[in-house]
Amino acid sequence: MDIFRIQGGRPISGTVRVSGAKNAALPLMSATLLTEQPIRFVGAPTRLVDVQTMGRLLVSLGTEFTERRGGELVLTTPNVEETTAAYDLVRTMRASVLVLGPLLARCGQARVSMPGGCAIGSRPVDLHLKAMEALGARIDVEAGYVVARTPPGGLVGGRVVFEKITVGGTENALTAAALAKGETVIENAAREPEIVALAQLLRTMGVEIEGEGTHRILVQGQDRLEGCRFEVPPDRIEAGTLMCAGAIGRGSLTLTNCPVAHLEALVEKLREADCRVHTGSLSSEGIGELTIEAPFRPRAVDVMTGEYPGFPTDMQAQLMAVMSVAQGRSMMTERIFENRYLHASELIRMGADIHLEGRTATVRGVERLSGAPVTASDLRASASLVLAGLVAQGETVVRRIYHLDRGYENLEIKLTKLGAMVSRESE
Ligand code: UD1
Repeated sequence: MDIFRIQGGRPISGTVRVSGAKNAALPLMSATLLTEQPIRFVGAPTRLVDVQTMGRLLVSLGTEFTERRGGELVLTTPNVEETTAAYDLVRTMRASVLVLGPLLARCGQARVSMPGGCAIGSRPVDLHLKAMEALGARIDVEAGYVVARTPPGGLVGGRVVFEKITVGGTENALTAAALAKGETVIENAAREPEIVALAQLLRTMGVEIEGEGTHRILVQGQDRLEGCRFEVPPDRIEAGTLMCAGAIGRGSLTLTNCPVAHLEALVEKLREADCRVHTGSLSSEGIGELTIEAPFRPRAVDVMTGEYPGFPTDMQAQLMAVMSVAQGRSMMTERIFENRYLHASELIRMGADIHLEGRTATVRGVERLSGAPVTASDLRASASLVLAGLVAQGETVVRRIYHLDRGYENLEIKLTKLGAMVSRESE
């Protein structure tokens, strides 16, 4: 198993390019099951373990998977040969459940292992299943698998009303509706940029869609969808994590290919924390250059996670690392997942002053953290420990880096380029 060895206390400065977004790439890849024609992705984060896992899952279902240099992926599924997403793959990556909608829509049946719990909470899929039922599917749970079947003529457009906003549930509803007969209305849909990217891909494949990025999405299902070329948007969470490295590392850091338009909540918080954030000229999608300068110790800010455009739950752990060394007291409230503070106990081992009560963490900034051996528990928690290691005195060893490899491409190389001392070693 790999570890990161970090020598803390070096200023973070320089320029790095943001990679393609994991959370966009996984639903985009699963949507390729909807057509027999090739879909070519550019700018995909092909090095991520989660992208490779999704590739293996699709191959197990009949997809031809070709990876080319420079983040290009070509996925073609002439025939779906298997409609079961097996436990072994789903267990390692929850996003595997995103093949449910496409399989059901194209083949009229799907058997997907129930993803079960994970370190950050129970994470049920009941809302995904209700959405499939609203389009006419019959759902049974047998031996740990969701078994879904359509009526003889396939899925029929319908009204999907989510009682709670769910990103994955909205993604499954969109892909299922793409090949359903007639119109589907998705109410209380998630508004995340990853939903917008998926809707854009489906539109390029020939689906009529309106309203992505709002709480009400209309989909006109089609009989057949086309292949296309599609650009994966840059990763707002990787960008945010690097911005936090700039904030904690007291330097001046420039990100290129940065999805600035998707980072408003974080930019606002970092500015409130006394960081200077400026942007260069942006593309029509709001992508471009962003610079963060943090000449002073950051000031404590309060934050509450929420659905987009609120503060992302995927940035809570990294901001907590920044708040651990801020001036003053920060109240952080996690509203999306009930158990997403596993990094707090490790930060405390590095000298952070954090008190947890239910969904709220009170972080009193300390002057300095000290390096320590720590263990990562999930993807974003690992990132927060690496950030803390950048500023801690002495050496930090982060174990279980495999969590980090699920969602960050070459993080140690990017941080080294920015002046940090981070090395990967095999234990
Ligand atoms: C969530 C995050 C997403 C993040 C991802 C990985 C939100 C709204 N979603 O997406 O930004 O990138 O984790 O960390 O911030 N729920 C149910 N039943 C369901 C589905 C969800 O009760 O069928 C609940 C979840 O337990 C959770 C909430 O709804 O409390 C939102 O979950 P959802 O958006 O579906 O999770 P992900 O798609 O994994």
